[in-house]
Amino acid sequence: MSKKIIIVYKSVTGFTKEYAEMIAQEMDCLLIDLKKVTAQMMSEVDIVVFGSRMHAGMVDELKKAKQLFAQSKASQFIVFATGAMPNEEKETIDEMWKNNFSSEELQNIPHFYMQSGLRYEKMSFFDKMMMKVFCRMMKKKKNKSEKEQQLADIIGTSYDISSKLYIMPLVAFLKS
Ligand SMILES: Cc1cc2nc3c(=O)[nH]c(=O)nc-3n(C[C@H](O)[C@H](O)[C@H](O)COP(=O)(O)O)c2cc1C
Repeated sequence: MSKKIIIVYKSVTGFTKEYAEMIAQEMDCLLIDLKKVTAQMMSEVDIVVFGSRMHAGMVDELKKAKQLFAQSKASQFIVFATGAMPNEEKETIDEMWKNNFSSEELQNIPHFYMQSGLRYEKMSFFDKMMMKVFCRMMKKKKNKSEKEQQLADIIGTSYDISSKLYIMPLVAFLKS
């Protein structure tokens, strides 16, 4: 019997929601905003996939999603994170996962990263301020590597490097 899956997402500017919708469509499964999901709802399924944005190196609301999953009867928790960082930045992305999970969680929670972009027009005032500070820091940084220079060049304005292609590793994992 195929396993029941729910995709739970937290999204502010829309990228994570779009990825979550694509995954739910591909898997023909339930989809719900983190704000609306309960542990009881998670208990109705076998697998909970939680998707959220990277926010200053942290997966936004991961703690809340983990707590709800722990209170539920679902058997597997999977995480995907979206971010402005290109997928090729494997070292930075690995480091980010290490900062978000304990070493046990790193082993036991399958996790996937999907590059997205930035949408200044949909950010909160506070997020815009944080980005402004980060952009200024990047601009001022001396002896930037080529990659840091590329990042500094793009993060000042909105851009979209998301693609349906990037859900495929997670979809293949869920189908396997
Ligand atoms: C204040 C702020 C901090 C961010 N920090 C990171 C980060 O540490 N790493 C990263 O790759 N992207 C970072 N981003 C980019 C977001 O993770 C990216 O735009 C994400 O896809 C937004 O998801 P959403 O559209 O579902 O809200 C940051 C964005 C903002 C506004």
